[in-house]
Amino acid sequence: MKPIRLSILTLASLAIGLVVRGVVSRTVRAGELAGVRKPDPTAIERGRRALTLEGFLKADWSESVYAKAARFWDQPAPDPERDPTGYAARFRERYGLHPAPFPNDGLPMGLRLGRGPDGGKKGLQIDCMVCHGGSIGGQSYVGLGNSQLDLKALLFDLTHAMGRRPPFSTFVINSARGTNNAGQIAAALLSLRNPDLSVRSFPLPLGANLPELDTPAWWHLKRKKTMYYDGRTDARSVRTNMQFLLGEKSLDQLKALEPAFRDVQAYILSLEPPRYPFPIDAARRDRGLAVFTKHCVRCHGTYGPQGEYPNQIIPLDVIGTDPARLHGLSDRLVAHYNATWFGEVSQVDSVPTGYQAPPLDGVWATAPYLHNGSVPTLHALLDSKTRPARFTRPPSTSFEHYDARQVGWKYTELSPDQVAQSRKRSPFQAGFIVDTGRQGMANSGHRFGDRLTEAERLDLIEYLKSL
Ligand code: HEC
Ligand code: HEC
Repeated sequence: MKPIRLSILTLASLAIGLVVRGVVSRTVRAGELAGVRKPDPTAIERGRRALTLEGFLKADWSESVYAKAARFWDQPAPDPERDPTGYAARFRERYGLHPAPFPNDGLPMGLRLGRGPDGGKKGLQIDCMVCHGGSIGGQSYVGLGNSQLDLKALLFDLTHAMGRRPPFSTFVINSARGTNNAGQIAAALLSLRNPDLSVRSFPLPLGANLPELDTPAWWHLKRKKTMYYDGRTDARSVRTNMQFLLGEKSLDQLKALEPAFRDVQAYILSLEPPRYPFPIDAARRDRGLAVFTKHCVRCHGTYGPQGEYPNQIIPLDVIGTDPARLHGLSDRLVAHYNATWFGEVSQVDSVPTGYQAPPLDGVWATAPYLHNGSVPTLHALLDSKTRPARFTRPPSTSFEHYDARQVGWKYTELSPDQVAQSRKRSPFQAGFIVDTGRQGMANSGHRFGDRLTEAERLDLIEYLKSL
């Protein structure tokens, strides 16, 4: 089979995606999904190597685009030859990437060298960590969702630097920094395959219309029975993580890579959240635990060595957060996924219910909050009338931009006029503005903190820092 280069997406290169979420495995065959919760250390190590040192995709851009990208910036850049360190820092800043905490040829986490577009020569490719690698307070972490990423700018600039025109994209890749539309990318890739995964020339009309999303932290996966924001996929599914390979791999190649993805999953299950680095007031934390027990445990579970996670999927009319992610996953897309090799072992649940209440381990480090990243701090999440309708994202994840009282990133609330002016002045700066009026970006719902007193709320936040 001759793999196609996707051009209906922006993202030929972007064979990322993965994501057609689904769930509950009505067709789980005993044995096949079993045993991954406590992976063996050699599998973890193989998975770490495969994910961080090797990569899976052919390179789509030539190596030289890294230095050429600066041509498309509206600010002067250090010379990549004379000042490679300065250039690397500016490159990361520009696209919201982070230093790699593993050997990566001087490239930021999420970009890697691989075999080039013209066969043997080296070239550049993105990998899982472009979205699933983040930093906070100057430390990079594999598995922390990248809340700074400007995926569209990265893909478009690298493609332009190749002298190519990015293909027309029929959907929003990201309207601001941090969110990305991994779901619609995966849906687009799958629509170009028949049920036997042979390549189609014209996409199947699957009707999916997914919105941009905040990338979830990987360290939650080990607590989950079901995964993705809607909890419709068995958390043990390995094949679901391989959807991004659909940009170039045949069914036989996918089958051959499944063991490596089993190892990658083992590595993901071994990840732990970073600890809160500032002082925590023990008395307030203990009072906060009582508030948490009364108001939050039934959905979010308990923490510590005996912690139990109830894996609750909360109906949309109860949770009240933005419905676009839930409704955007069409029945036809789910049926198509389930009819392919991806659905053979574990099927995506055909019934949409609501959103899964996530575990809150490491929640201090994962702002902005909710599945669409529409709320900048824990304090705003727990007092819904104070949530800003339009707010700025920080220029970096350095602690100077971190708000340890509200817990999350410092922000400025903007008026519609200020947003319009900023868009006119510089599209680059406008990328730092989250507008919750956009499709899929509503900051509604989850009003479980509204009736707390301010003292209870602050105690609760102190407790959340300790998770
Ligand atoms: C373009 C950004 C992007 C890339 C690249 C990406 N992901 Fe994701 N990933 C996401 C987003 C966004 C979600 C949430 C999707 C949802 O629930 O709708 C997600 C969800 C997940 C989840 C489920 C987490 C949970 O707790 O529910 C896993 C596991 C995962 N991705 C693994 C991977 C692997 C492995 C790769 C590389 C092969 C990868 N991802 C590449 C953006 C990305
Ligand atoms: C009825 C169930 C329910 C209750 C009660 C509840 N939550 Fe949630 N919570 C959810 C669901 C569902 C989500 C995901 C919603 C979404 O992303 O659209 C969520 C999301 C969150 C998030 C965002 C996590 C992230 O990484 O974006 C935080 C923080 C949170 N809840 C804290 C709390 C606290 C603190 C309480 C107690 C005051 C609480 N919740 C009570 C169901 C609940």
